[in-house]
Amino acid sequence: MPLELGVLVSGNGSNLQAILDACMRGTLDARVSCVISNRTQAFALERASRAHVPALAIPHQGFESRETFDRALIAALRQHGAEWIVMAGFMRVITPELLRAFPGRIINIHPSLLPAFPGVAAPRQALAYGVKVTGCTVHFVDEGVDSGPIIAQRAVPVLDGDDEASLSARIHEAEHELFVSVLQEIATGKILPASPANPPRLA
Ligand code: GRF
Repeated sequence: MPLELGVLVSGNGSNLQAILDACMRGTLDARVSCVISNRTQAFALERASRAHVPALAIPHQGFESRETFDRALIAALRQHGAEWIVMAGFMRVITPELLRAFPGRIINIHPSLLPAFPGVAAPRQALAYGVKVTGCTVHFVDEGVDSGPIIAQRAVPVLDGDDEASLSARIHEAEHELFVSVLQEIATGKILPASPANPPRLA
């Protein structure tokens, strides 16, 4: 049985596209069971619809608290049979309720070599700092911002003359490969849900 993925998005969805394409090609033994965006206008929803995947907009503004918003996410994810939750450009901090609903089975991708440059605009932060190497990180999600146990990282060079757009594009390419390869390792059982008894290995 393919791994059932619930993908959370807020924007363009190029990582979602990489996952959908890999599922279609058969290089990823998974199925995207639903895509949920907190932003109605996210292009990622269009990508999901084109792939005939349920695309749900659940705007966070309609909820009185982070918990009630997360409860709506949990209900939708369960309804669609999601087993692992993939945050692919999802610009919300999640609550312990969502973490408890899918224990050790929520992952995120971030465009830096964490713990460097957490939060927003990581490529811009990398350029401002002047690092010569940055990259991307896939990690288990915890209650912090970009702070859970690291699963895998990929280094990306910062080139002379890079601006935010050129560096972001290079990081995105690395993200697409890294995310799919981590998900395939989850699908094949090489990466197990995070737990105190099962600390993630570094890929
Ligand atoms: C990616 O850079 C990801 O690391 C970050 O948000 C961005 C989403 O890009 N969390 P996309 O929507 O997948 O194109």
